[in-house]
Amino acid sequence: MISKFLRFGYHESIAVTLDEESVPHAAPMGVEYDGSNLILRPYESSKTYVNLLSRPLLSLNFTQDARYFFKAIFKREEISYDFSVFGVPPVIVGDFDLYVWGRTKLLGLVSGRAVFLVTVEKIHEGPGSKLALSRANNALLEALIYYTKIAALVDEGSRGLAEYLNLLRTNLNLVRRLGSPELVGMAEIIEGKLNELLGDVLI
Ligand SMILES: Cc1cc2nc3c(=O)[nH]c(=O)nc-3n(C[C@H](O)[C@H](O)[C@H](O)COP(=O)(O)O)c2cc1C
Repeated sequence: MISKFLRFGYHESIAVTLDEESVPHAAPMGVEYDGSNLILRPYESSKTYVNLLSRPLLSLNFTQDARYFFKAIFKREEISYDFSVFGVPPVIVGDFDLYVWGRTKLLGLVSGRAVFLVTVEKIHEGPGSKLALSRANNALLEALIYYTKIAALVDEGSRGLAEYLNLLRTNLNLVRRLGSPELVGMAEIIEGKLNELLGDVLI
């Protein structure tokens, strides 16, 4: 089933990990699939990385719907978890195509990123995204990626910001042009968060 769902090789998931108090933490994370192994590359600065060091189990939640990725960054309190499917860590309730539970093993650190091999323990097909291809949905996802890259760069001292800002704004404009009111609202929230983030950084 994994080879069908992940047939393009690199896919976006929402990884759910547990902290030491067993509180679930959701974060969008890319997953690489080479036909047999799954690889996850969280930044060393991420909470996902810290959680996996003490608790190596995770659930990978796959959906086409970019709204869940938005929530995993800006509205974590709106994410509801289901602990009943297989247990630990929980999965996210909603229009998900596939849930994968795995055990991670740290292979090393490369340029600030950890490389984890994920051994699959269980797979469960979700209710499905049931979503036709939408450029606004894709653009919202791209905007989120550039937002998180900009956030990381601001922390590190702002080099290379202008290019990412351009890409972010192009994608936000696409969401405004082609998105539903809900997606457009999310684009406005991203723009607001961006302005907060940039404050008086000079680009
Ligand atoms: C679609 C998407 C994919 C992402 N992939 C990764 C990734 O592979 N590794 C990573 O460290 N951050 C990735 N990010 C950024 C993190 O989700 C974001 O920085 C998050 O807030 C940090 O993780 P944390 O909550 O575990 O600290 C991605 C963001 C998006 C929107």
